[in-house]
Amino acid sequence: MRVIVEPDRAAVSRTAAQFVAELVRRRPTCVLGLATGSTPLGMYAELARMHRDEGLDFSRVVSFNLDEYVGLGPNHPQSYRYFMQENLFRHINIDTRNTHVPDGRALDFEAHAQQYEKLIRDEGGIDLQVLGIGSDGHIAFNEPGSSLGSRTRLKTLTIETVRDNARFFGSEEAVPRLAVTMGVGTILESRQCLLLAAGQSKAQAICDTVEGPVTAQVTASALQLHRDVVAVIDEEAAQLLKRRDYYREMEQAQARLLAEHRSGRKGL
Ligand code: PGA
Repeated sequence: MRVIVEPDRAAVSRTAAQFVAELVRRRPTCVLGLATGSTPLGMYAELARMHRDEGLDFSRVVSFNLDEYVGLGPNHPQSYRYFMQENLFRHINIDTRNTHVPDGRALDFEAHAQQYEKLIRDEGGIDLQVLGIGSDGHIAFNEPGSSLGSRTRLKTLTIETVRDNARFFGSEEAVPRLAVTMGVGTILESRQCLLLAAGQSKAQAICDTVEGPVTAQVTASALQLHRDVVAVIDEEAAQLLKRRDYYREMEQAQARLLAEHRSGRKGL
């Protein structure tokens, strides 16, 4: 896993936006996997700015979101469809018909989940999946204990997640207890994953994910099995990493060492 440690949340957002923008420029028909939550908000604002100021073109981009609360429709202010419209889609020129978010009001969730997986396959798979991380180490709503081979399905939220998300709903009681979410196995099929984390509350989950064992108790740790993951995290989220100095050095030294190697100089 490549780990990029940035000084703060704003720098995480800028770096993450650069990864997405670079893909969109290189491959205008790319398929993006998108995440909700507070972490990617700054990245979405930066992408909106790039669209406005630099003409970053999303007109042929396709997107799939990770998850949605069961019971919330697209006009509910806490639904993830609403979140995406408000924080990204209405600020860029993506075609809404190309944006996919699981439907929290589906009646047959098994059929809906299968259809969602098929849609992803029909679009050729996800090129870049953006991920936040829960304080319990979840990715999407794959709570501790989720199979590392899981596919899109219904999931019951842990009390930890309900408490974490109560701030958006005003109370714990108002937080839906069920969600439809891409599985860990679905996420691992993305060509590249971009894991974002900021703040002290994510430090343990990041430590477990990057340096702990692969375990269904920390579903983000399954990313260790993926061939192309970039974790962009801030100093606070990195504070428990044993090898954080190495990650930092590696980022700074790798380009220089490679250039030296290519020019035939010694010093490696
Ligand atoms: P957050 O949520 O970005 O609001 O911290 C992340 C998550 O629960 O996946």
